Amino acid sequence: MSLQRISESALTHKVLFVCLGNICRSPLAEGIFSGLVDDAGLTGDFQIDSAGTGAWHIGNPPDPRSVEIAARNGIDISHQQARTVSLDDFDRFDVIVAMDGNNLATLSSLCATPRAEIRLLLNAPPMDVPDPYFGGPEGFEDVYLLIRSGCEKLLATIR
Ligand code: 4NP
Repeated sequence: MSLQRISESALTHKVLFVCLGNICRSPLAEGIFSGLVDDAGLTGDFQIDSAGTGAWHIGNPPDPRSVEIAARNGIDISHQQARTVSLDDFDRFDVIVAMDGNNLATLSSLCATPRAEIRLLLNAPPMDVPDPYFGGPEGFEDVYLLIRSGCEKLLATIR
């Protein structure tokens, strides 16, 4: 790797969003955050991904309700595919952003010495982005707004 490539790689912010199934909340967070980064003209400065702590939906696209609320807000997340968090992620990413306290605890239990900072998306009440999977479509609207607000603050913090 050339010196230039090393410095480019060191300057890239690597952000991983994590929820339980990687089909509802974290795909939305990946799409929303990517859109904010693009709008800020920072596309090349970031690597953005999402994953789940549970394995039920590996390889599946996001939940249609997440795809729909994203599309209504001008964001296409339909190409994403669910995956689980891997041990590599704790070294590869600079920050791993959990959607709620349960997933934060699971992440902390998976790796004792992460290079990545592990944190919650929200730093003010309600703290948790609630799991909308078993509820109705209105839950996805609430989740969209919470994630958007959290992502705006996260980008301001990282910049
Ligand atoms: P997510 O929502 O963690 O926001 O992707 C869920 C999706 C699926 C399940 C739970 C939560 N599930 O039990 O299959």
